[in-house]
Amino acid sequence: MTNPSISANAFGPKFQWGIAIAAPQNEGAYLTDGRGLSIWDVFSRRTGKIKGGAKPYEACDFYHRYKDDLMLVKALGFTVFRFSISWSRILPEGMGKVNREGIAFYHRLIDECLLLGLTPYVTLYHWDLPQELQKQGGWTSHQMLKWFTRFTTLCCEEYGDKVKNWIILNEPMGFTSLGYMLGMHAPGKTGIRNFFPAVHNAVLCQAEGGRIVKSAVTKARVGTSFSCSEVVPYSQREEDILAAQRADALLNRLFIEPALGRGYPQMERFPLLDKLHLHNKAWKYTERMQFNFDFIGIQNYFSLTVRNNALIPYLHASEVKAASRKVPHTDMGWEINPESFYRMIKRFWLYGGVKEIMITEGGAYFKDILHNGVVNDARRIDYFKQYLSAALKARKEGVNLTGYFAWTLTDNFEWSEGYKARFGLVHVDFATQLRTIKNSGYWFRDFLRGS
Ligand code: NOJ
Repeated sequence: MTNPSISANAFGPKFQWGIAIAAPQNEGAYLTDGRGLSIWDVFSRRTGKIKGGAKPYEACDFYHRYKDDLMLVKALGFTVFRFSISWSRILPEGMGKVNREGIAFYHRLIDECLLLGLTPYVTLYHWDLPQELQKQGGWTSHQMLKWFTRFTTLCCEEYGDKVKNWIILNEPMGFTSLGYMLGMHAPGKTGIRNFFPAVHNAVLCQAEGGRIVKSAVTKARVGTSFSCSEVVPYSQREEDILAAQRADALLNRLFIEPALGRGYPQMERFPLLDKLHLHNKAWKYTERMQFNFDFIGIQNYFSLTVRNNALIPYLHASEVKAASRKVPHTDMGWEINPESFYRMIKRFWLYGGVKEIMITEGGAYFKDILHNGVVNDARRIDYFKQYLSAALKARKEGVNLTGYFAWTLTDNFEWSEGYKARFGLVHVDFATQLRTIKNSGYWFRDFLRGS
């Protein structure tokens, strides 16, 4: 599928080219100007949870360096900038008192985007719940919808005149499974007792958030972003096929199907879903779980091969790693499979009811070497070429695919991987905060210029 001569022109003049970041991964300044603690600030103190004991306290200091970083976005030729709002920066306790200094920061950031001709896309929730709300149960609490309503309403009132593109949740499957089932991400909760309420509250907030933004912001375009991964059975044995179907229901269907009005995915012989089906039966929930998004964001970082594994609780499936299958993979161990990316775009499109798809994140971690001021990240360039070709193929076949956002601008805080897993188009020396554009950044600039 590789098309070495691919250029942005092939996507047409209206296609949106963006770059995405997230507050807890980039901003740092975790105690500056009245910000409250988020679950990531607290979780990162727990021994052994984050590689190298890394903390998100400073990250790449976007809070102070946003003007320079936006200049980089501009210099690389992108016209869209996606960022998230740190809830605890504007509402330090999650509810209650508004922190005007935090509010002012996002006004400055948005104004700077507009000054540079960058269209802002705001993500409301990119995984950094205020710690004060976590103390009351966080995403498992029945108060979550009330809290999210307050936060969303405040953001719309403050920024709705200037920001028209909104993304409600970033990868709800990511934060509910890693944070409330597996304990690998903040807040480190485990088990289905936490997972189910977190999922259901996220599904409700996803839809209700859409309604709030639509009614509060004139001419708003509202989307939400989903992670997705094609799941392939390791063998054609029935037990492996069923394992793949179970993993698929969780990874790819759990959040989009309720949004489309289908309720939670139905699957025989998968007791894990039974509890959620109860919500389908209550008509009021099915209706409240639905929202007619203007666009949906797709984020595909890997495909998965799984086999039946009785030892894995509930799911009874485990991954057969790309390295052991000797297929191409990134330094995260994630399988590189642009064909499966193409198939996932098509699959989401073919649901019906999806009006527009944007790739709200795409990128890869490869070990970078900074040598004499140069990062020659040829493997990342090749990755983008392959994935952009796959996206183009889907678009040419009629998918209303309208944008692609690279993940990410600068190397940043990669959650439980700390600072080692670098996804940026721009290298960061975390000791000095010095930025160096990687060759992939220059490649993107030329690609966007059409040269
Ligand atoms: C998706 C998440 O939204 C983002 O925060 C993360 O850094 C990338 N995946 C890479 O893991």
